[in-house]
Amino acid sequence: MTMTKASHNHLLRRAVLAAALALGAAYVQAASAPLADWPHITSAIKQDKAMEAKIAQIVAGMTLAQKIGQMTQPEIKFITPDQVREYSIGSVLNGGGSWPQGNKYASAADWVALADQFYDASMHTDMKVKVPVIWGIDAMHGNSNVYGATLFPHNIGLGAARDKKLVGQMAESVGKAVRATGINWVFAPTLAVVRDDRWGRTYESFSEDPSIVRDYAGVYVTGLQGRFKDDRNVVATAKHFIGDGGTDQGKDRGENQSTLSQMINIHGAGYYPALAAGVQTVMTSFNSWNDVQAGQDHGKMHGNKELMLDALKGKMGFDGLVVSDWNAIAEVPGCANDSCPQAINAGIDMIMVPEHWKSFIANTIAQVERGEIPMARIDDAVSRILRVKMRAGMFGRKPSQNAYAGKQDALQSRALARQAVRESLVLLKNNGGVLPLARGKKILVVGKSADSMANQSGGWSLTWQGTDNKNSDYPVGDTILAAIENTLGKDHVTYSANAAGVDVSQFDAVVAVIGETPYAEGDGDIGPFATLRLSGRHPEDMAVLQAVAGKGKPVVTVLVSGRPLYVNDMLNLSDSFVEAWLPGTEGKGVTDVLFRTKAGKVNADFRGTLSFSWPKSVCQSPLNVGDAQYDPLFKYGYGLKYGSKAIVPTLDASYPAGGCGVTNALQVYSQVDRSTYPLVVSSGGQRVALGADLNAVFKLPTVTVDTAQVNTQQDAKRLVWSGPAKLAAQSDKPLPLPAYASTAGALQFDVIVAAAPRGVVGIGMENGGGAGATLDAGAVFQRLAGKGKQKVTIPLSCFADKGLKLDALDMPFSVTADAPFAASFANVQIVGGAASDKDALGCGEFNK
Ligand code: BGC
Ligand code: BGC
Repeated sequence: MTMTKASHNHLLRRAVLAAALALGAAYVQAASAPLADWPHITSAIKQDKAMEAKIAQIVAGMTLAQKIGQMTQPEIKFITPDQVREYSIGSVLNGGGSWPQGNKYASAADWVALADQFYDASMHTDMKVKVPVIWGIDAMHGNSNVYGATLFPHNIGLGAARDKKLVGQMAESVGKAVRATGINWVFAPTLAVVRDDRWGRTYESFSEDPSIVRDYAGVYVTGLQGRFKDDRNVVATAKHFIGDGGTDQGKDRGENQSTLSQMINIHGAGYYPALAAGVQTVMTSFNSWNDVQAGQDHGKMHGNKELMLDALKGKMGFDGLVVSDWNAIAEVPGCANDSCPQAINAGIDMIMVPEHWKSFIANTIAQVERGEIPMARIDDAVSRILRVKMRAGMFGRKPSQNAYAGKQDALQSRALARQAVRESLVLLKNNGGVLPLARGKKILVVGKSADSMANQSGGWSLTWQGTDNKNSDYPVGDTILAAIENTLGKDHVTYSANAAGVDVSQFDAVVAVIGETPYAEGDGDIGPFATLRLSGRHPEDMAVLQAVAGKGKPVVTVLVSGRPLYVNDMLNLSDSFVEAWLPGTEGKGVTDVLFRTKAGKVNADFRGTLSFSWPKSVCQSPLNVGDAQYDPLFKYGYGLKYGSKAIVPTLDASYPAGGCGVTNALQVYSQVDRSTYPLVVSSGGQRVALGADLNAVFKLPTVTVDTAQVNTQQDAKRLVWSGPAKLAAQSDKPLPLPAYASTAGALQFDVIVAAAPRGVVGIGMENGGGAGATLDAGAVFQRLAGKGKQKVTIPLSCFADKGLKLDALDMPFSVTADAPFAASFANVQIVGGAASDKDALGCGEFNK
């Protein structure tokens, strides 16, 4: 059978169209009809013949060094404009907490000035055709690394809002704010479908369920990129490809153990609409993929050719560029920060090498010359980079030649962000219809997060982890306290962070604003020793609620957090409970909903519903809608409205000792749980609780205590004894010990002995009422003095031999010294089976 070329093409086009429509429908309804393979996606941005010819011509005229330069993305702290010129650098980025000239308070104009310098440098390279450099930034929730920018709620709040239109508008406004700084590439949206909320990046995810991520991905990309016709358009990034939200135990950069089908249908869900909307860049993920069920360990994503080259660029038809994550090539076995032919061969086009870009360029040139990377792969990578730049309209346009460039106002979008906050709030409890609160009342505001821009903004806010920020670092915006004062009038509001000495009866109601403190990747993970219990990590929040609850005045709790947490104990102390997520700079979005109008009407009702399931117990993670045994406290989609008569009863607030991912160890004292066994120090007749404040220094008659480092920052307590004093980890009643705390187990801690003891030192464990055992550990500490960090393992049998019962303890650890001695203690644990560790001490060592 013969067919004319024209009719063949016609049929082919029809087939492609039909397939695209079918697939379009398929990914819209993936939940009912799972995809069997990576779908082909038709991008809204089509290839242009003339453009492709131009790209080919430019690439043909480039030297190898120029090509590798184009593929390299250094960080602005580590490269000057002149080096961009010299090395024909293709892109720069600024990392979290990196600003022009290191100036946190840089203005929009300052950012543009630097962007122009980079651009001008790229116009003076030795390339035949000059190619503009592209600058990328983590504008995650607003142009969030920039002073004076409006910060929107983090993605988790947008997920709760269930408002696609809002997300599109937000993305447009982010584009504008980024253009105000002369930048044209945004590392967003994050399309992670987070399955284990212990991951420290949970708040960067819209939902645990692929449907919301799928719903938002396209509008987000379109909001940022438009059709590259408008001055506010910027290049978007779908990240992190793929499976970032599915790592085992929620570990950052960890191992995703999904099947191929789960990769395609859960973790891939956001990519299909993003690609269809024409997203121009995809960032590869730090995680690895081990398909345990199929017995296939695919290793680190950065070395995964099957997913980047074959699936993304092949089957899905992506023709933009793939960028690696921060130094992430080094995680591929055999690679280093400045060398990774595997990653380029696997499909990475632009390499984020913040610091070691010079040696990276030299190494990569040599690898191509040795044939370790084919020239065709390099040409493809460079073509993709040029394609993105051309499509984005970057050629011949300086960053300052943009309507928004340098405009401080363009950084702001307060009304829209306030709307987003309003819509993102989720009402978890409103017993007795305490909310909305009437105006004209006297309100007591308590809690550390009421007046904290840093806490309400979370990570990726001016700095990487969102730490080291003061309220004055946010010149535009309102804390929740400021918003309450604005609504009620200052004379109606009293604020006390810890409620110390406040007479609650003097007020009509209490608003407690509590929650997590800022964190980002890595630091934000809840590790295997820890649990989802907020009061474990933040006992000060529990203390403040205890101070105001049960005093006959209604307590409204506003929780600021990056993820659902176990808060049964706190719900019990609150009449109403609102999850506010990480709302960003616009605190008035909270008061819009919490307070009635002057006329006494509801001003704005709750709209938010959970896009993440809420745990009922401290180790209930992973917990996701659709689970076989789905038993959350508040299910996916839950969220009360005004007028609802739903009552949340008193909840079981008990929990087992220990963490969630470690089944043979009990953390007695650590950074992650400061309250199961709070630390107390006794000296000269005084007894002082050390509390949660890591900056506190206690100068007692015979001992000084502060926070220090043994393993990681601020993980230890440092004691300098001058006379008799005791440090103890102590609960208010004996807590049952897990079965592994048998005679085969051990008490373990890390210690740095700064000064050998001049007298007796005892290590004690107690059952309650003072009963227990103390070991004479003077000789042991003598031996460890001056040796730096040491792990001490003491078999529990040594204590049992002296009368300790291994059933329940109120004091699993104490150190008593009677004369000068100095040591820092961290990571105190009871570890099952550790008595037989090769470094375990013998009981005989305590009698010397
Ligand atoms: C993060 C990315 C981010 C990049 C640049 C990485 O560590 O995983 O999300 O875009 O750094 O700051
Ligand atoms: C940078 C971040 C980056 C991170 C990766 C930080 O120093 O500021 O942007 O994501 O390193 O580890």
